[in-house]
Amino acid sequence: MLRPATPDDIPQLCEIEIATQIAPWAAETFDKCFQAESQGWVITQSEDKIIGFILVLLQMGECHILNLCIDPNQQHQGYGTKLLLAALTDAKQQGAVIAYLEVRRSNANAIALYQKMGFSKVGERKNYYLTKEGSEDACVFAREL
Ligand SMILES: CC(C)(COP(=O)(O)OP(=O)(O)OC[C@H]1O[C@@H](n2cnc3c(N)ncnc32)[C@H](O)[C@@H]1OP(=O)(O)O)[C@@H](O)C(=O)NCCC(=O)NCCS
Repeated sequence: MLRPATPDDIPQLCEIEIATQIAPWAAETFDKCFQAESQGWVITQSEDKIIGFILVLLQMGECHILNLCIDPNQQHQGYGTKLLLAALTDAKQQGAVIAYLEVRRSNANAIALYQKMGFSKVGERKNYYLTKEGSEDACVFAREL
């Protein structure tokens, strides 16, 4: 089931982060996002177990995708596509005309998803992400809505 994300979901969002991300977001980061009126969606399985989420910020006609994450045991089954479509459709309905996101240069799976969804690379941010060894560049992708 797809439903809007709420601050009550933060503990489960943190669990998915820890299981998937090199530098997982802390609960405080999610908290700040909700306080800043970011919007999000989650996909749940039975008993409200969250298996994936997306968070976006809509500002000045732009939709910034802040985070998209699927439980490692549930990846490559269409959930990321479903969440991205829901967020982009809603952003367009709310007047956004363009969507942006940053992704690690090495994250081939996510880049494949974004390209499949019509995003194109529009720039880079040097040393944007932490890695175990140091830092990694971000690729900036965009798509008109
Ligand atoms: C990247 C991510 C969000 C994709 O979500 P997903 O539910 O696994 O993706 P989908 O099943 O909707 O797949 C859509 C497309 O993404 C690409 N993709 C996703 N997982 C892939 C995998 N394991 N191997 C290769 N391609 C993959 C493919 O192009 C796929 O299209 P296809 O099914 O025709 O091959 C998910 O794998 C994830 O959470 N990864 C870890 C966190 C992350 O990197 N988030 C993005 C931060 S910018």
